[in-house]
Amino acid sequence: MLKPKKLAKKNFLSSLDITTEEVLHILELASDFKNKKINIDLGNKVLGLIFDKSSTRTRVSFQVAMSKLGGTTIDLNPTTSQIGRGELIKDTARVLSRYCDIIAIRTFDHSDLEEYAKWSTKPVINALTDLEHPCQALADFLTIKEEFLDFRDVILTFVGDGNNVANSLILCGALLGVEVRIACPRGYEPNSVVIKKAYEIYKNKNLLKITNDLNQAVLGANVLYTDVWSSMGEENKKAEKDKDFNGFTLNNDLVSKAEKDAIVLHCLPAYRSKEITDEVFESKKNRIFKQAENRLHAQQALLSCLLS
Ligand code: CP
Ligand code: NVA
Repeated sequence: MLKPKKLAKKNFLSSLDITTEEVLHILELASDFKNKKINIDLGNKVLGLIFDKSSTRTRVSFQVAMSKLGGTTIDLNPTTSQIGRGELIKDTARVLSRYCDIIAIRTFDHSDLEEYAKWSTKPVINALTDLEHPCQALADFLTIKEEFLDFRDVILTFVGDGNNVANSLILCGALLGVEVRIACPRGYEPNSVVIKKAYEIYKNKNLLKITNDLNQAVLGANVLYTDVWSSMGEENKKAEKDKDFNGFTLNNDLVSKAEKDAIVLHCLPAYRSKEITDEVFESKKNRIFKQAENRLHAQQALLSCLLS
């Protein structure tokens, strides 16, 4: 039976907090959890969940993952805790790490997450910031591995905004040596530091492409991935972004330019007729719900490594 290995770093704030070996180990462990080849009881460990933004998948999959590992979660809703009243992150972090064994945080500024991690004596997990969504990327690559068995020759094309989800796909893709193409409107390119770091990791620098040419980007792709045009916290930019992303809808025409066996992924929640058509969403190529399920297995694997 595969055993969870302790990760070199205490926290999982970024896809870059783990090595290639560690991501492969987490994915292997996740498959074992999924196929019920492994059963781990961490013994009453407590995960604190601080969510400054809404969540269905991340929140529930963490709660279920902890309960399957024999632990519990505490929902630290900022509006009912003192976090919402503005208690300093450094004070909250020092208190919570005396109660909880591990903390998952969803917030806006990545620097706030880093501030929590700086003051917490317990591991901190990024449950999404404006910069990254590394737990999502673990589930995404688990889904890709299940479909294509290994990552060799897989081309992943992400169509949409170059923010959190795209940034983590790039970094995790770099660790795994997967060809990642990001197709976005001008001005919505991924974070430049993320791109630079990814190029430092890729042995073959041609495997990362950032482009505004959507049609070119989907040619020969095995995985077509999209995300909302307006992320949480961008509600006031909706009209402007709808205009800027016009033409970047994942539709049948684009899907037909990809490989025949191409699959369609979406981190969810989705807005049909914006980033994806209903037809593509409901098509046979959809692996979106498998991908959503994999959040649970990937996070069970991650938690068991961070807590071992
Ligand atoms: N994909 C994802 O993180 O979904 P939630 O916002 O529902 O957690
Ligand atoms: N980019 C989206 C992802 C949601 C899971 C957002 O930040 O709202």
